[in-house]
Amino acid sequence: MPDVLSVASLTKTFPGVRALDAVDFTARSGEVHALIGENGAGKSTLIKVLTGVYAPDTGNLTFNNRQVAFATPLEAQHAGISTIYQEVNLVPLMSVARNLFLGREPRGRLGLIDFRRMHREANEALRRLGITVDVRRPLRELGVGTQQMVALARAVSVDAQVVIMDEPTSSLEPREVQTLFGVIRMLRDRGIAVIYVSHRLEELYEVCDTVTVLRDGKLVHTGPIAKLDRLHLVSLMLGREVGEVREEGATKFSGDHAPDTRPILQADNLTMRHHLHDVSVEIRPGEVVGLGGLLGSGRSETAKAIAGALAPDSGRVAIAGETIRTGSPPAAIRAGISLLPEDRKAEGIVPGLSVRENIALAALPRLSRFGLVDESAIDAIVDTFMKRLRIKASGPHQKVGELSGGNQQKVLLARWLAMNPKVLLLDEPTRGIDIGAKAEVQKLIDELANDGLAVLLISSDMEELIEGSDRVIVLKDGTVIEELTGPQVTEDALMRAIATTGSPSD
Ligand SMILES: Nc1ncnc2c1ncn2[C@@H]1O[C@H](COP(=O)(O)OP(=O)(O)OP(=O)(O)O)[C@@H](O)[C@H]1O
Ligand SMILES: [Mg+2]
Repeated sequence: MPDVLSVASLTKTFPGVRALDAVDFTARSGEVHALIGENGAGKSTLIKVLTGVYAPDTGNLTFNNRQVAFATPLEAQHAGISTIYQEVNLVPLMSVARNLFLGREPRGRLGLIDFRRMHREANEALRRLGITVDVRRPLRELGVGTQQMVALARAVSVDAQVVIMDEPTSSLEPREVQTLFGVIRMLRDRGIAVIYVSHRLEELYEVCDTVTVLRDGKLVHTGPIAKLDRLHLVSLMLGREVGEVREEGATKFSGDHAPDTRPILQADNLTMRHHLHDVSVEIRPGEVVGLGGLLGSGRSETAKAIAGALAPDSGRVAIAGETIRTGSPPAAIRAGISLLPEDRKAEGIVPGLSVRENIALAALPRLSRFGLVDESAIDAIVDTFMKRLRIKASGPHQKVGELSGGNQQKVLLARWLAMNPKVLLLDEPTRGIDIGAKAEVQKLIDELANDGLAVLLISSDMEELIEGSDRVIVLKDGTVIEELTGPQVTEDALMRAIATTGSPSD
């Protein structure tokens, strides 16, 4: 298979970090190439150099046997490289259709955008991916998973020779993942080179031909994926012996907690037009309750309604028997409710502030007395979480915006854990987090539950949901359709409950 895009001896440094160190990489036509490595290993940086976001310090880029240097991502795109970046870079306020056709809108004779044609074609492009949404709606009204599908539709609807996907499945449900794989196979069969970044290792075996492993900015392996089992893959990623990592891939939940008998959280009959209908959730101290369901089934909305981020039309939320004001995040926080939101970029991370400031942000009121902040208490908390979650940064004072995607997620998780809440709502807590740190996060959730924390867990990772939850509530179209408890919580039972679900609308 012919080489289409390659780079030799690529080095890229940022102040204080060598993100890429003499890396060789080649993408071939008709091949799906997995790019893996721990959070901060350099995957996104490599992609950004290949696509003209960053200029390399040293290293030559070859595209179709010609030496090139893309000055901007647009140049790379025009040359035939279509990219879905890790940070969804669409325009939230614009319609779905506009986002799909950004920069190449169909135009009429007078040069005006032909909206009818654009809407029709956008509809078709999405329908081919099994997504039915009103393409005139602003993109931000869709869930993160559906936004990822829009990004995918955009990337594959241009004529490209190389399609690059940086963690395209992080928010997708099993069914959407299969749709995506269908698309990837179609691209491969057409002779397109696909570069695929993901932390979900099982997926790689399903769809990739070749794998390249990065560790601390260095290339540690490249070759056919079929020759490498999962254990070896993980050991290459982490730089540890196979024996040491034998356990690493498994979830780190113990699964059975001994919760109190009285619920600490009672959410009764939450109803919100078009989103939730009489959803009730009770969680006892020490209990982990999972929320299952497809994209758009109302899981995130339920968490947001409990945490005051959305105002339900009716229904009640109570902590330890005391009703709190709904639709008010401060009231929920005061009562001891913490929400790690799904859309971290829009709802949490402050890229210009340091790691320390981002972690301490929410806990500040608790750590201040008479207007004075207890700096050493903050140092201690920040230090603990940076170590526990293995946050890779040059130090607590590095700006969060400069961290890799996975490490930004860890910082946000640390923020909500540092608040010491009574009820912790986690919407996709391990999304984008590498396999080593993921086990650590799961262990942490487990320990917190054992210490009496009540946890609501939303995860599109089936294994995580099943292993981690004492109970799973299954939602469909904003309604509770099933509740599984203890030994009933199995993959089979969950799949069966979810399978009764109709097509997701968003
Ligand atoms: N703009 C930047 N300024 C400073 N440092 C950066 C910048 N971008 C990346 N880095 C650093 O480069 C290293 C590699 O980051 P990169 O985003 O490529 O990791 P990654 O492999 O994509 O990780 P993840 O799985 O978390 O997405 C990290 O140490 C990161 O902090
Ligand atoms: Mg990345």
